[in-house]
Amino acid sequence: MTVLEAKHIEKHFGSVRVLEDISFSLEEGQVLAIIGSSGSGKTTLLRCLNFLETPDKGTITVKDELLFDAADPATQRESEIRRKRLHFGLVFQDFNLFPQYTALQNVTLARELMAKTEKTGESLEDIRAEGIELLTMMGLKDRMSNYPHQLSGGQKQRVAIARALAMKPSILCFDEPTSALDPELTGEVLKVIRSLADQDRTMIIVTHEMEFARDVADKVMFMDGGVVVEEGPPSEVFGNPKHPRTRQFLDKFSG
Ligand SMILES: Nc1ncnc2c1ncn2[C@@H]1O[C@H](COP(=O)(O)OP(=O)(O)O)[C@@H](O)[C@H]1O
Ligand SMILES: [Mg+2]
Repeated sequence: MTVLEAKHIEKHFGSVRVLEDISFSLEEGQVLAIIGSSGSGKTTLLRCLNFLETPDKGTITVKDELLFDAADPATQRESEIRRKRLHFGLVFQDFNLFPQYTALQNVTLARELMAKTEKTGESLEDIRAEGIELLTMMGLKDRMSNYPHQLSGGQKQRVAIARALAMKPSILCFDEPTSALDPELTGEVLKVIRSLADQDRTMIIVTHEMEFARDVADKVMFMDGGVVVEEGPPSEVFGNPKHPRTRQFLDKFSG
């Protein structure tokens, strides 16, 4: 089943076009890695998918529901954005945890709020139990009551991943999840993301970890200057890049 289909996404900031005619799709359980130099539009693309930015052109469809069509204001109602955004879980480079809440509270907060405001019928006990389960899965069973300042960067990022999973997103999106981490902490976060891939989570991962991308992704998309220069299976994009710009970019990483 196709989980996500983005078509002809275009985005300007002022007169600068930062995304140009971006189209791709993602099947259930697939992992898409997005690579590219700084400023190539990777974050903006993720923000468009998450309704944190409004594309100037294009459509976004999730599981056969047209979530967004730049040409159709009816798909852009503020009142529905929150529900639509729930299809996407976003994990940021700098974690964005709430400092005043424990690890467990960070994971459960949004679900608790939703249970209250939307009367989902979920009990706080159930939400809490699930939060504990997710943190345990992240290897943080003994860290539930810690506040973010008591956690390492790798632990904070694993809390952030548990928090995203708690909302049961259709697609989990990572924006350079390890670029704020030391090499040894990077490993523990990549391991968790890899295990999510092994569980057939549908994911989009923006990363500079080329070996990891090659290993974990089903598809790789190389972006440069707001366009998709090359897209394909990792063996092609990494092993036999067709475009000179892709080769040039990858050469920087092979040292
Ligand atoms: N809110 C914004 N206002 C103006 N320009 C922006 C904004 N966000 C990003 N940009 C510009 O858009 C381009 C793409 O940025 P970004 O999506 O962050 O790239 P990447 O994540 O690949 O580094 C850059 O030139 C950046 O300066
Ligand atoms: Mg970025």
